[in-house]
Amino acid sequence: MQNLQLISGHSVIELDTVDSTNNYAANLAKSGQIGNGTVILSAHQSHGRGQRGHIWQSDAGTNLLMSYVLTRPIFTHETQFYLNKAVALGVRDMVEKASAKCCKIKWPNDIFCDGLKLGGILIENSWRAQTLSSCIIGIGLNVNQTEFDTLRATSLAEILGKEQDVKSCLRSILESLDVRLEQVARKQWRQIADAFGECLYLKDQITD
Ligand code: BTN
Repeated sequence: MQNLQLISGHSVIELDTVDSTNNYAANLAKSGQIGNGTVILSAHQSHGRGQRGHIWQSDAGTNLLMSYVLTRPIFTHETQFYLNKAVALGVRDMVEKASAKCCKIKWPNDIFCDGLKLGGILIENSWRAQTLSSCIIGIGLNVNQTEFDTLRATSLAEILGKEQDVKSCLRSILESLDVRLEQVARKQWRQIADAFGECLYLKDQITD
């Protein structure tokens, strides 16, 4: 089932289940049927994808699984680098605000709190010549899941000790992302690079 709503100025297409919100968004972007800033939200993914070909596993109806679509070709190969950093910062900003804890980014864009992974980002780009024609920003944030098949994961509910509202998390993540994406639009590269450097997990240490 698909439901369309407006959240924090974004059209949000809400699905019960999908293979991957990134796939769904990429198909819409390819056919030109999606506006800039549209968000795909799903309660469940049958084939959620992570970085480096990994699977992104998430219990149904518990976490935030979303893709934010940029269809305006404003980025080049050069500025894409800052887009990745800005997105990681936007997610981190939201998590830090929601959890009232110091949250870090593990290179390149994993979100960590108390040394445990809380969320991940998968950005997929389509290029036309040297210009980015669409960019799918996939975000998985552990909101209410409390059991994981790794000891190195946590969720907002675990940190805060109570269940969280996924839609409110979506609203606040969109707000923080938009602040950081505005920095990209304004080409504020130094601010982005400095903030990212400040937030790096185990900065100056070698990690696996
Ligand atoms: C990672 O840490 O490996 C990145 C995980 C990204 C997962 C999100 S969930 C929503 C979107 N759709 C996907 O298939 N993947 C991203």
